[in-house]
Amino acid sequence: MIVLGIDIGGSGIKGAPVDTAAGLLTAKRIRLPTPPPARPADVAEVVKKIVDGFNWKGPVGFTMPGRVKHGVMHTAANIDNGWVGADAQQIFVQATGCPVMVLNDADAAGVAEMAFGAGRASQGVVLMLTFGTGIGSGLFCNGILVPNTELGHLRLHGDKAEAYAAASAKKRDNLTWRDWAGRVQEYLDHVEFLFAPDLIILGGGVSRPKKVKKYLHLLKTTARMVPAQLENEAGIIGAAYAARSLQAA
Ligand code: BGC
Repeated sequence: MIVLGIDIGGSGIKGAPVDTAAGLLTAKRIRLPTPPPARPADVAEVVKKIVDGFNWKGPVGFTMPGRVKHGVMHTAANIDNGWVGADAQQIFVQATGCPVMVLNDADAAGVAEMAFGAGRASQGVVLMLTFGTGIGSGLFCNGILVPNTELGHLRLHGDKAEAYAAASAKKRDNLTWRDWAGRVQEYLDHVEFLFAPDLIILGGGVSRPKKVKKYLHLLKTTARMVPAQLENEAGIIGAAYAARSLQAA
């Protein structure tokens, strides 16, 4: 089944149709910049352009950078605060006329990795962590997602852990890979203590093979630790996969 996946981030909104049996994009993705400010109506307009761009009429899966419960946003990171309390599902149904499913971006990336990437067929406790502007998390137990864990918001040194150890902190504080890996290690120690995962999948921009080489050997966990395999398509693929049971309009 082909489902349109749309990944909404702080800098770009990306969409493509996905073959949800194979986990592959069936057309080149469309990427449009996230409008500043990224208020619900502004984002809905961009989303409509992507849906129209593919002349799409079927189900659509969306990722959002925040906690999403039953389609409603409970937090919002790197997009306008006007999303908090907004019914994203309703907003996107109205904008597109399509059946819609909305989930957290890291949950979606995890869903994609579990179905088609680094977590394929993994049992036990699997933790997907995405390192970017923030830190996103997707927790799975025997393949089932425990949604909205938001482990980037755990406290570390008196602030959110993502302020200390996200990929953006490396850039902001001008850290070497070694220094940054030291911070990530502190974070991973904390997370391991809480969840004792069997497998940790590291995602986000730092999961590209060229980058992984610079820090993965510096990290030590009792869990097996592997880089994500779907890179920046994971959000689109996971969103589409999660929405595959929706009926076409
Ligand atoms: C947000 C999460 C999101 C993560 C990655 C965090 O700041 O709170 O919802 O998954 O960033 O985008």
